[in-house]
Amino acid sequence: MSILDKHGKIERNLTLLFVGSLVAVLIGGIVEIAPLFYVKNTIEKVQGMRPYTPLELAGRNIYVREGCYLCHSQMIRPFRDEVERYGHYSLAAESMYDHPFQWGSKRTGPDLARVGGRYSDDWHVQHLIDPQSVVPESIMPKYGFLAATALAKSDISGHLVANRAVGVPYDDAMISNALADLEAQADSEADTSGLESRYAKISIRDFDGNPRVVSEMDALVAYLQMLGTLVDLKAYQQNENLR
Ligand code: HEC
Repeated sequence: MSILDKHGKIERNLTLLFVGSLVAVLIGGIVEIAPLFYVKNTIEKVQGMRPYTPLELAGRNIYVREGCYLCHSQMIRPFRDEVERYGHYSLAAESMYDHPFQWGSKRTGPDLARVGGRYSDDWHVQHLIDPQSVVPESIMPKYGFLAATALAKSDISGHLVANRAVGVPYDDAMISNALADLEAQADSEADTSGLESRYAKISIRDFDGNPRVVSEMDALVAYLQMLGTLVDLKAYQQNENLR
């Protein structure tokens, strides 16, 4: 009896085929999943990562609300063409405080994982109000209403609480000061010592050029300007070379 005949037996017997498939899938599953229980951590810790400030978190909520992720990814893959265009490939730790993550699955526009600091605030505001005025061939929609809409900020501490519930390390002081911290970050004249003691490496300024009101534009630009800027990648690359 050849091996094919033996296999024919399995193929003709539904129960045998089912049990056989189950065994094959189980072995594959164990081989893939079991090692994960023996590594200490699936996300390598890197220096510099911190939770979003309240203003950045509000901006991130607008990014999600407007569906920016439908056209923009936030994950630079470790391929030469991507690294040369967008910068150091994304580290897992860089999205550890993202709930849900914003890796995206489509790039109608460029990857935004390291867009922070690449353009001025003015450029972002102008680009969001009228993308075609700065990039004539752009097909990005206009988001001018963000500049005209005051940010709904009264519930911001609730957003921090929700993120803490899923593992983001916001402490009690961050939560109780959330609203004050949000307002302080968008106001270059505010007392920001508390804000700066709670969050490292933050930009404090009026992001949308209109100091009278904290707008949705302020929040979104604050978020865009911090993307990919927290981890000191030079230090990280040196460590990598030493390994
Ligand atoms: C219909 C698809 C689409 C949507 C939705 C979209 N964009 Fe874009 N975006 C683009 C395209 C295409 C470009 C490249 C041309 C340009 O710069 O306008 C771009 C460029 C950008 C850039 C400049 C990136 C760079 O490195 O030059 C930023 C920042 C940006 N978009 C932010 C956003 C934000 C924030 C939102 C949501 C409020 C958004 N986009 C929604 C298509 C889109």
